[in-house]
Amino acid sequence: MSLFAKITGVGSYLPSKILTNNDLANTLNTSDEWITSRSGIKQRHIADENESTSTLATQASLKALESANISAEELDCIIVATTTPDLTFPSVATMVQENIKANNAFAYDIQAVCSGFLYAISIANAQIKSGMSKNILVIGSETFSKILDWTDRSTCVLFGDGAGAIILQASEQDENKNPQGVLSTHLYSDGAYKDLLCTTGGASLNATIGHVSMKGPEVFKHAVKQLGNVAKEALEFNNMTSDDLSLIVPHQANERIITATAKKLKVDLSKIVITVDKHANTSSASVPLALDYAYKENRIKDNDIILLEAFGGGFTWGSCLIRW
Ligand code: ACO
Repeated sequence: MSLFAKITGVGSYLPSKILTNNDLANTLNTSDEWITSRSGIKQRHIADENESTSTLATQASLKALESANISAEELDCIIVATTTPDLTFPSVATMVQENIKANNAFAYDIQAVCSGFLYAISIANAQIKSGMSKNILVIGSETFSKILDWTDRSTCVLFGDGAGAIILQASEQDENKNPQGVLSTHLYSDGAYKDLLCTTGGASLNATIGHVSMKGPEVFKHAVKQLGNVAKEALEFNNMTSDDLSLIVPHQANERIITATAKKLKVDLSKIVITVDKHANTSSASVPLALDYAYKENRIKDNDIILLEAFGGGFTWGSCLIRW
């Protein structure tokens, strides 16, 4: 018998304000046709002045707790993946802890840009497997709209705001009898590519938050290559093939990256969750937002094999294979 981390609840939250491609075309030299054909994005949600990464995270967390049917007091840990924290410190996780009254949890943020949620699940899984934690709230939450240069058409059309959350709970199961929960995680990074996708500022470098800067075509090539590699690795590690997959929940940066990865794996598009058209790239929130979307659409059932994968700034990338 071994400890496994089971997903027992999912939730998400999107700001009510929607910005369409046509809205952007009113103020920028761009068009719905360019944005749709290059990225698959049709619209994005944008936080208003009263909303922040912690308020979005709080709303998603309350829904995940309700879905898992546990109280905030039962949580022993909260991990928030974010690149757009409310403040340089304290962490967004401690703000969520206060908001939901999770008085028995310790809380911290991690930062791996668009791969952040994969990193957070991996750490949470390790905490559960080691016996350190039993009930962990894992959140991806971002307000990228606040770090975009809204005059730079090559980046500002690609991102949106939102939050997604899951509850991971320890469950003792026989490892030889198709256990449910996280089966594997694989994480990677390569700082040699840090300048291809970064912000122009930071607390220590120049005491500003900076703006998103991206060499899109270079990032695109690396994303397709590495996402294909991590997906194959996750399947091989678990002695599975792509035929075993019920669903892939990829990072939602670009529909062309998602479909190219699916083609590499020879997986039918009906098994891929696509929300990039509705949410755009919400960085660390994109995978849990897409997971919750699929869950609500009844596309997930018990014992389904589900692959989560992401690629982002750093570069960072990773996978997580789950039996639901
Ligand atoms: N509207 C109209 N034209 C535009 C726009 C726009 N919004 N933005 C750029 N263009 C122009 C460019 O100026 C360029 O014109 P030029 O040829 O005259 O110089 C032309 O369109 C082509 O631009 P490209 O950048 O070559 O377009 P590409 O087909 O590569 O698509 C995109 C760009 C969508 C950014 C793509 O490269 C991509 O998705 N990259 C990967 C993004 C990603 O996966 N990021 C990882 C996660 S993000 C994170 O971690 C924070």
